[in-house]
Amino acid sequence: MANQEDIFRKVISHAKEYGYVVQSSEIYDGLSAVYDYTQNGAELKKNIKEYWWKAMVQMHENIVGIDAAIFMHPTTWKASGHVDAFNDPLIDNKDSKKRYRADVLVEDHVAKIEAKIEKEVKKAHKRFGDAFDKTQFLATNPRVLGYQEKIQTVLKRLGKSLEAEDLADVKNLIEELQIVCPVSGSKNWTDVKQFNLMFGTKLGASAETATDLYLRPETAQGIFVNFLNVQKSGRLKIPFGIAQIGKAFRNEIVARQFIFRMREFEQMELQFFIRPGTQMEWYEKWKEMRMKWHLSLGMGEDNYRFHDHEKLAHYADAASDIEFKFPFGFKELEGIHSRTDFDLSSHEKYSGRKLQYFDPELNENYVPYVVETSIGVDRMFLAVLSNSLAEEELENGTTRTVLKIPAVIAPIKAAVLPLVKKDGLPEVAHKIIDELKWDFNVVYDEKDAVGRRYRRQDAAGTPFCITVDHQTLEDQTVTIRHRDSMEQKRIAIDAVNHTIAMEVGMKYWLKKTE
Ligand code: GAP
Repeated sequence: MANQEDIFRKVISHAKEYGYVVQSSEIYDGLSAVYDYTQNGAELKKNIKEYWWKAMVQMHENIVGIDAAIFMHPTTWKASGHVDAFNDPLIDNKDSKKRYRADVLVEDHVAKIEAKIEKEVKKAHKRFGDAFDKTQFLATNPRVLGYQEKIQTVLKRLGKSLEAEDLADVKNLIEELQIVCPVSGSKNWTDVKQFNLMFGTKLGASAETATDLYLRPETAQGIFVNFLNVQKSGRLKIPFGIAQIGKAFRNEIVARQFIFRMREFEQMELQFFIRPGTQMEWYEKWKEMRMKWHLSLGMGEDNYRFHDHEKLAHYADAASDIEFKFPFGFKELEGIHSRTDFDLSSHEKYSGRKLQYFDPELNENYVPYVVETSIGVDRMFLAVLSNSLAEEELENGTTRTVLKIPAVIAPIKAAVLPLVKKDGLPEVAHKIIDELKWDFNVVYDEKDAVGRRYRRQDAAGTPFCITVDHQTLEDQTVTIRHRDSMEQKRIAIDAVNHTIAMEVGMKYWLKKTE
């Protein structure tokens, strides 16, 4: 079996070869941790955003969406705490001169212990066969329990030292765990220092009058500063939510793992405004709703888990991540935070404006509490891409590469293929495209033998191939081939649109979130 690194490398090269993602400015040797989405990638990204927007905004009477500017008044970031507290703890290796995030070094160490647990599970599975009970094994095997205890101890200590900003202890932990620099292999570390992640820029024509600005590091603040505008103009009653999709920027130091951690990325965020005191109830509800959204895409229940935070951000009284099993292990895909009234109260203080809600049922004014859900579009994209890429052995002994992207978000829904480039078949294929294009993103493909075209569409992630052959001319039927099962059926041309719609329609997939 290919190891995790090989699998990840394959995902990255497949993404380039099939028009999904490439490095930004590649002809100039690229820009680190910045990526461009090419033709299929742009479609997949758009579909992910639409799937989220529909689930959050369209499906909820009490949630509206906005589109705030990336540039915001600089005081916003003072109020939000980002100027003072949006830091990463950094450590340098004196031999390689490489800089690392200290917490990531420790987390990578933990991931290695997790990998050992997985290895034990695999070994035991092989030994016990069908009788193997994974849950019982994890709960009783002494070696696994030892590893788990080690992980808990390390993460607790890391959480505690970060919380207390005890950077000396973070360094001690790195030394005690004997973590070595992945490049030099040495343990020759500097002290741990804080580094602010916001990108600064300037607004204005001349150096004297220019204002210092930041590129927003999260979209959330665009929602908070508009809380009253939206509540009043929409006459919204608590509980209600404001959603937003948009770019965010962070000067990430550990810029690796492809589009997992980027310097320019996109977020899909919801701020849900509630009565103070009800935050735990809503926090749990949103954890459940968001997990359902993920599961609705059918990418495997075992690939998701919650990770409740030990260390809370400066604004939160509870926080949990939905982690996904990426090719490099379980990592954060989405964050769900109970943000209290931190943001609105702080903006009240800094702006001098009241950001309160009059609750007619309680007959009182208050600053609402907030539960936030925040997911990176690019991370979701990587989850989909890495989970979908498969190499399958076929019955005839050959292999095929297939991208089993959930059909609802697949970039191209169908390819229409004339069996041969003559006898009027291309004309019929084009006519079918002219019908389908109003509802779906479809392509025409006539190059090479039809078997090769199927393979090409499998690898590009297209859920359906519609083949026009000589029988089509006689009885107005075509074959429709399913990407995942490779099953082929003969159906009437008139039935093609409906057949595709039943499998790719967002309505049918979103119903699973109810
Ligand atoms: N408003 C809350 C917030 O921004 P976060 O945990 O820092 O919280 C939320 O970010 C989500 O944004 C993450 O779960 C992740 O999916 C995505 N994200 C954060 N930093 C990212 C980066 N550098 N590159 C890609 N996605 C990122």
